[in-house]
Amino acid sequence: MACSKDYNLGEFTFPRGWFMVAESAKVTDQPQGVHFLGQEFALYRGKDSGKVILLDAYCPHMGTHLARNSTSYVAQDGAVEGDSIRCPYHAWRFGPDGKCNHIPYSTGPIPPAAKVRSWPVVESMGAVFVWHDPEGGEPEWDAPFLQEWNDAAWTHWTFDDLGKIDTHPQEIVDNITDAAHFGPVHGSRTKFFENEFRGHLAIQRMGGGHRTLVAQGGPMLVTEAVYHGPSILITRMSGLYDSYIFIAHTPVDDGSSYVWHALLVKSASGGAATAADHAAARQYQDMALAAFAQDFEVWKHKRPCIQGMFVQGDGAFRKQRTWYKQFYNPRAQKQEFLKQVEGIHVPRGMEPAPDEMRAQSEASLPMVANA
Ligand code: FES
Ligand SMILES: [Fe+2]
Repeated sequence: MACSKDYNLGEFTFPRGWFMVAESAKVTDQPQGVHFLGQEFALYRGKDSGKVILLDAYCPHMGTHLARNSTSYVAQDGAVEGDSIRCPYHAWRFGPDGKCNHIPYSTGPIPPAAKVRSWPVVESMGAVFVWHDPEGGEPEWDAPFLQEWNDAAWTHWTFDDLGKIDTHPQEIVDNITDAAHFGPVHGSRTKFFENEFRGHLAIQRMGGGHRTLVAQGGPMLVTEAVYHGPSILITRMSGLYDSYIFIAHTPVDDGSSYVWHALLVKSASGGAATAADHAAARQYQDMALAAFAQDFEVWKHKRPCIQGMFVQGDGAFRKQRTWYKQFYNPRAQKQEFLKQVEGIHVPRGMEPAPDEMRAQSEASLPMVANA
């Protein structure tokens, strides 16, 4: 298992960005402990606001985990009160802002330091995302959201929870520039392929046949895969159906990742999705998962690629790895990386994406200010 330092990514062990930490539907007023980005959190849904709350896990009083307890009477009676949570050990209560707002047995003042960190979270498209920034800054871009989520023609995804893999996210991000794996791994006949790096976005435009996702001799599979920051990949795909693949890989500890996969699918008619469309969407997601599993199996058993032996036609791996460094270094240094990589890169021997596809990207991608 290799760590961020081994890849020479930068100052930080964990990157800046939005990270999926849970499926929305699984967050209730029963607090749960979750472990991501090298640390423990307490995650729950407030009873008053219905909002998801993510706090640092350890109580400042004596270090008890706020959410990994089931036997204390605090836990048995329900540790969440309104939007606050009580510690299972001596019942100090913390608000959604992380500040202690009640100590049941003490008449003295609550010490100002009696607080835990409350993390910025958003719920979007059935997922809970946290903004993580080693420098403690405000979000640099919005958490991803697809307009199609609110359109009745599209069948919502249910997440494939693929669990933890002992693979550094760098190995997974490499996939966005991997032009030469499509044939061997996925059985695609790539007709065109290009990458573009722009601010926090890394884009791959690809067109070709695909043995898993389109029938032989069927329509061409055209995909536009976009990394929205270091950890969330959303791919627009036109094949058998119009769809969006969602892949999130959140660092667990340094060198491991937790992976979710999902597929948003448009109805065959383009009108409101019917029961038959929902069933077809589930089946199509399974097919997409089978294609993703082909990548996953390689990652699971490979050794880390610290220095690849890259050859002509491999794709813009070095550019991509430089692009990825922006998230592991202070925000003030971002431009140093971006100026080396921004623009469109076509591997030697491949065709670039057609102009109409680039125009469509332009219209649909979030604007990135390169100030
Ligand atoms: S350790 Fe949390 S209240 Fe005492
Ligand atoms: Fe792949």
